[in-house]
Amino acid sequence: MSAFFTPKAPRAVMKLTTLLTVFACALLSSAGLPTKTVKRTDQSQFVSTQGGKFFVNGSEFNFIGTNAYWLASLNSEQDIIDTLANISRAGITVVRTWAFNDVTEIPENGTWFQLISNGTTAINNGTNGLQKLDMVIDHAERFGIYILLSLTNNWAPAATDNLTNSIGKEHLHPPVQSRATAVEAFNSSRPRNFLSNDYGGMDVYVRQFGFKNHNDFYTNETLINTFKNYTDQIVTRYIDRPGVLAWEVANDPRCNSTVAASPDCNTQNITSWHATISTHIKMRDPNHLISSGSQGFLCMDCPKMFATPTPAPAPAPPTQPSHRAAAVRRAIPKPLTRDRIIQERNERWKKTRALLPKSERGQGSGIRIRGRWLSTPTKRQDDIQDAGSAFDGSQGVDSQDILGFPNISFGSFQLFPDQNSYGMDDPSLSAFENTLQIGLDWIKIHAGIATTFNKPVALIGFGLVTQDNAPFFVPFNTTIAPFAADSSSSSTTNSNSTQSFGVTDAQQGTAYTSWLNAGISAGVSGIMSYQWSQGNLTAQAGTEISPTDDTTGQSSSDNVTGQSPNDGYATQGVGEAAVQGAAQIVDNST
Ligand SMILES: *[C@@H]1O[C@H](CO)[C@@H](O)[C@H](O)[C@H]1NC(C)=O
Ligand SMILES: *[C@@H]1O[C@H](CO)[C@@H](O)[C@H](O)[C@H]1NC(C)=O
Ligand SMILES: *[C@@H]1O[C@H](CO)[C@@H](O)[C@H](O)[C@H]1NC(C)=O
Ligand SMILES: *[C@@H]1O[C@H](CO)[C@@H](O)[C@H](O)[C@H]1NC(C)=O
Ligand SMILES: *[C@@H]1O[C@H](CO)[C@@H](O)[C@H](O)[C@H]1NC(C)=O
Ligand SMILES: *[C@@H]1O[C@H](CO)[C@@H](O)[C@H](O)[C@H]1NC(C)=O
Ligand SMILES: *[C@@H]1O[C@H](CO)[C@@H](O)[C@H](O)[C@H]1NC(C)=O
Ligand SMILES: *[C@@H]1O[C@H](CO)[C@@H](O)[C@H](O)[C@H]1NC(C)=O
Ligand SMILES: *[C@@H]1O[C@H](CO)[C@@H](O)[C@H](O)[C@H]1NC(C)=O
Ligand SMILES: *[C@@H]1O[C@H](CO)[C@@H](O)[C@H](O)[C@H]1NC(C)=O
Ligand SMILES: *[C@@H]1O[C@H](CO)[C@@H](O)[C@H](O)[C@H]1NC(C)=O
Ligand SMILES: *[C@@H]1O[C@H](CO)[C@@H](O)[C@H](O)[C@H]1NC(C)=O
Repeated sequence: MSAFFTPKAPRAVMKLTTLLTVFACALLSSAGLPTKTVKRTDQSQFVSTQGGKFFVNGSEFNFIGTNAYWLASLNSEQDIIDTLANISRAGITVVRTWAFNDVTEIPENGTWFQLISNGTTAINNGTNGLQKLDMVIDHAERFGIYILLSLTNNWAPAATDNLTNSIGKEHLHPPVQSRATAVEAFNSSRPRNFLSNDYGGMDVYVRQFGFKNHNDFYTNETLINTFKNYTDQIVTRYIDRPGVLAWEVANDPRCNSTVAASPDCNTQNITSWHATISTHIKMRDPNHLISSGSQGFLCMDCPKMFATPTPAPAPAPPTQPSHRAAAVRRAIPKPLTRDRIIQERNERWKKTRALLPKSERGQGSGIRIRGRWLSTPTKRQDDIQDAGSAFDGSQGVDSQDILGFPNISFGSFQLFPDQNSYGMDDPSLSAFENTLQIGLDWIKIHAGIATTFNKPVALIGFGLVTQDNAPFFVPFNTTIAPFAADSSSSSTTNSNSTQSFGVTDAQQGTAYTSWLNAGISAGVSGIMSYQWSQGNLTAQAGTEISPTDDTTGQSSSDNVTGQSPNDGYATQGVGEAAVQGAAQIVDNST
């Protein structure tokens, strides 16, 4: 444990971590840090994979990274240099950013890459176009930073979308009745490109080509060809650039978006799309790796398009159990099944309950609400035969099947517990304890799947909204900050933005540290926080860094302008310290 970064955190929080990370700590002693400098004959300057690891220049490559979707839309070259310099100083070696910026009409100011309008597309290769992305790659290479480039977005809400169903509606202050109210209240001053979902993406293609369903993007040949054409412009432009870590076919692809999916959208449609697009990219650019970019949702019972490798046969059980036999058994990944997920989950729930204070034990099954034990005699809470929505294909994504396709070079998954469900809550644990534990499980599950396929895996984005950041939090599928104060109203009762949402700073630090440590010890090759926070940027009206914008939420600075966008996840304080601490450790070990 000593080799790993531990943030300063109050005693109560540390006690909780001790309880929940017993497993992770036990692993550390045996697994330790990633293997050092494994040499191989291929000295390629492009990042490649072998035996479940990334390699570059002949050495194994493990990384702590960060996200900065807004990087190519900064207003000056110096801003791009300053941002990359600070990231590099923090020991971070990979940055994930958007390689798309679609508009439906040419904006007066700011960066744009592709005009998608009325069934046609045009590329902007000018100084406010792809030359901005060129700058990012140029300077990244100088700093020894690799850029992970995402080629489109699942999310692109438009002003006409019906967003009244958005997350946390009931917490709105005052409750939002209509889209118009929400825009007036929260979004009037947010400039283009401020939010990660305001760079165009699938729904812009769908709308501008006259389609109705989000999933037409994955299945209609017109849209597939149009997107292939865009990928051609990008991947051939950077075909020779070692600073590009990999192509990510999309951010968070899934059936639904703010343009809804048709009811028949399924995991096979999205898996086939990954196969089609990755094959196309590989043909155009054989140099770079390709991955999905999805949240990592799974479907244990869905029909598979690509074979799961058969695990090596389990060794015969020894007559005398020995440490060595146990070690051998651990090394062979058991195939992940729905039954195994349920069984392991239920066993852990039982163990957690056994750890409860005596006064709360022996009451049969029950649930704890706000610290009070409530007996529920009718239902055994530790015996739920449901793996949860992250495992049943309900998002239309089977990332295990996607990883089975040969041209998908490595696994990717994300961890945003404020927006997605990745597992079921243990009734014996508090909300925060569940968030922490489900994150640990999610990381372990994805590390295991990648091992089965003998491919590396990266956690391409993770974040937890703190109470301080809650007013600035905008879920990826909307433009509304559900916990922001209503700035359009002059009434003082509406200006109270104190909301009971988000974790404390110390809890964020604890979660980030636990997840980073768990990822490193489980063999996750890359772990990327969401998202980098940068000050002193050049502001210009009508761009992502706008002088009139007052929603950045960078409370640490006197000047609110000149700050990179904060969508509720801008790293600050202990969370940032946890990421940088892990970065130093991974750097020192390779
Ligand atoms: C879109 O294109 C069609 C056919 O080319 C044309 O009739 C229509 O006027 C265009 N609409 C717009 C808004 O440009
Ligand atoms: C491909 O993209 C280029 C640049 O955006 C555009 O000029 C061209 O019309 C597109 N071709 C097709 C067939 O869509
Ligand atoms: C931009 O693209 C156009 C059309 O393909 C080409 O003629 C022009 O030379 C390009 N300009 C730059 C700066 O790459
Ligand atoms: C928006 O969604 C609400 C709630 O589902 C529904 O009642 C309403 O009819 C929808 N409005 C439009 C214009 O689709
Ligand atoms: C946005 O995502 C949240 C959380 O997943 C979900 O509850 C909500 O229905 C979604 N809203 C829209 C408009 O898609
Ligand atoms: C794809 O869209 C085009 C244009 O709308 C349409 O003509 C074609 O039939 C669609 N293909 C499929 C398979 O639905
Ligand atoms: C899409 O979202 C809607 C509303 O949340 C839901 O009713 C529907 O089942 C989802 N469809 C798919 C294919 O995921
Ligand atoms: C979606 O997948 C199903 C099952 O493979 C297939 O039958 C269907 O044709 C696909 N839909 C489209 C539009 O490609
Ligand atoms: C603001 O919220 C806090 C905490 O909920 C509450 O104590 C305070 O009275 C509120 N102030 C106003 C002006 O509503
Ligand atoms: C901004 O730049 C000034 C002067 O170079 C420096 O003192 C300050 O620390 C910087 N602030 C941030 C937030 O980077
Ligand atoms: C574009 O930038 C100029 C110069 O900074 C500014 O005067 C103008 O208002 C901006 N346009 C928009 C639409 O914000
Ligand atoms: C804030 O911005 C103003 C105007 O650009 C500048 O004069 C002032 O020095 C800045 N304050 C700080 C603390 O950076």
